[in-house]
Amino acid sequence: DWTMASYRDEAIRKIREQVGNKRVICGLSGGVDSSVAAVLIHEAIGDQLTCVFVDHGLLRQNEAEEVVTMFRDNYNIPLIHADEADLFIGALEGVSDPEVKRKTIGRLFIDVFQKYANQIEGAEFLAQGTLYPDVIESVSFSGGPSVTIKSHHNVGGLPEKMGLKLVEPLRELFKDEVRALGRELGLPEKFIGRHPFPGPGLAIRCPGEITREKLEILRRADAVYIDQIRKHGLYDEIWQAFVAILPVKTVGVMGDGRTYDYACALRAVTSVDGMTADYYPFTHEFLGETATRIINEVKGINRVTYDITSKPPGTIEWE
Ligand code: XMP
Repeated sequence: DWTMASYRDEAIRKIREQVGNKRVICGLSGGVDSSVAAVLIHEAIGDQLTCVFVDHGLLRQNEAEEVVTMFRDNYNIPLIHADEADLFIGALEGVSDPEVKRKTIGRLFIDVFQKYANQIEGAEFLAQGTLYPDVIESVSFSGGPSVTIKSHHNVGGLPEKMGLKLVEPLRELFKDEVRALGRELGLPEKFIGRHPFPGPGLAIRCPGEITREKLEILRRADAVYIDQIRKHGLYDEIWQAFVAILPVKTVGVMGDGRTYDYACALRAVTSVDGMTADYYPFTHEFLGETATRIINEVKGINRVTYDITSKPPGTIEWE
């Protein structure tokens, strides 16, 4: 009979068999898949594993600190924190086309990853948190934005380029099974239950040109929104929820003054696999309270809208 505990033991055995006494590099994104892969491989081979966490400066509030604390301090996993926010944000200056943004980030991501990975001497393997649906998706879709799903963190083509062999211990699993395996490995529930987060990060939640100012406003609004969702006990019912900062300023009033600040859109969807999605039917009370909190607590935003587009015809992300 099949249990997660026996799957884990079997996966550990296979990793040891494949890797022997060689060194493994794992790209850590902070997402569930790469986190579970890293912890599993660390259980199998300990300090033969080094993780590289590419911080592109497009993460959510406190996210980088949380990832570093979790893996370095809690799990004692050797971790390189590649803090390259200046590089990414500099390269994105003046760029507003969504595809150019994605490509710029993807290209730099690979460069940076490679630069840091090269510092790990004697590495022969590259670990990736590829899931079963990724394996299928990469062969069965043509055209459309879904092609780029995962292409960012599952650094396509890189293993060959670097002469590394792949370790993909999650290749047979679906998302819910990865979560179960994460629980089996003792990863905290807050990490396991996390909503998916795209490789290009906040860049695709900031339509138009990115600025540090807009990113900071977006981070703060997003944190308030997620706090609201958690406080109302809705987080686990939702596939993904986030704020997008709109490339438009609108007029408002606050006290006896006129304001001229950014508008934002709240997004929340339910979904099974991200391929189709329905917008989440929040109550008007929830939406009203959240709008009030964001406008009161986040300087730079004076208007909040709710995105009621399902997928299709919309995508989940805004770019
Ligand atoms: P869309 O916006 O295409 O998103 O409906 C579907 C799911 O994929 C995620 N997504 C990405 N994930 N790299 C990723 O790792 C990407 O470039 C990317 N684009 C979208 C999105 O967050 C949603 O879960």
